[in-house]
Amino acid sequence: MKKRMKKGVINHLARRKKILIVYYSRTGNTEKVASVLAKHLNAKKEKILDSENRGGFRGYLKSGAEAAWKSLPAIQLSRKKLENYDIIVIGTPVWSWNMASPVRTYLTMNKFKFKQTAFFCTMGGSGSKMAFNSMQKLAGKPISTLELNAKEVSKINHSAKLKEFIQKLKKAREV
Ligand SMILES: Cc1cc2nc3c(=O)[nH]c(=O)nc-3n(C[C@H](O)[C@H](O)[C@H](O)COP(=O)(O)O)c2cc1C
Repeated sequence: MKKRMKKGVINHLARRKKILIVYYSRTGNTEKVASVLAKHLNAKKEKILDSENRGGFRGYLKSGAEAAWKSLPAIQLSRKKLENYDIIVIGTPVWSWNMASPVRTYLTMNKFKFKQTAFFCTMGGSGSKMAFNSMQKLAGKPISTLELNAKEVSKINHSAKLKEFIQKLKKAREV
């Protein structure tokens, strides 16, 4: 009986869709959300890395200009194979009312490889809608979206919005 139950649980887990969380973060806010999502969804995460110096005021200006001009800075090749995952959850900071430029490069490079997606962003206060619209053009319609401002990120563990986002992903994960 116990053995049959164990086999049932293993079969159920094997049938579940696999989630990968891919994100870019310059100062840690988006990374914090990615880590909480990975923990609650028991999912792997991968950070998008680029080699631009984005520190200080110069880095801020450069990053803002890149996002506004829809530039595609070089990024490191991803270590995770997208074809091994069913749902890719993509996270970005909002830059100049748009997605961060390294995220645009990532989505452009992998344009036709996404099966299902969900988006999240962190921001000072505005621009999520425009960022999500641009992301949708490259990665398809998301299952769900989540936007968090600085205050919400600082209280992430008490966020009702975050809980709702996680619930939607858990539901989408069940086959
Ligand atoms: C270049 C740049 C442009 C930004 N533009 C916006 C913006 O248009 N709207 C906004 O609400 N926040 C904006 N922000 C604030 C970031 O979106 C916010 O601090 C975010 O949480 C940073 O995420 P990170 O710590 O993961 O890098 C901008 C930040 C940077 C660096």
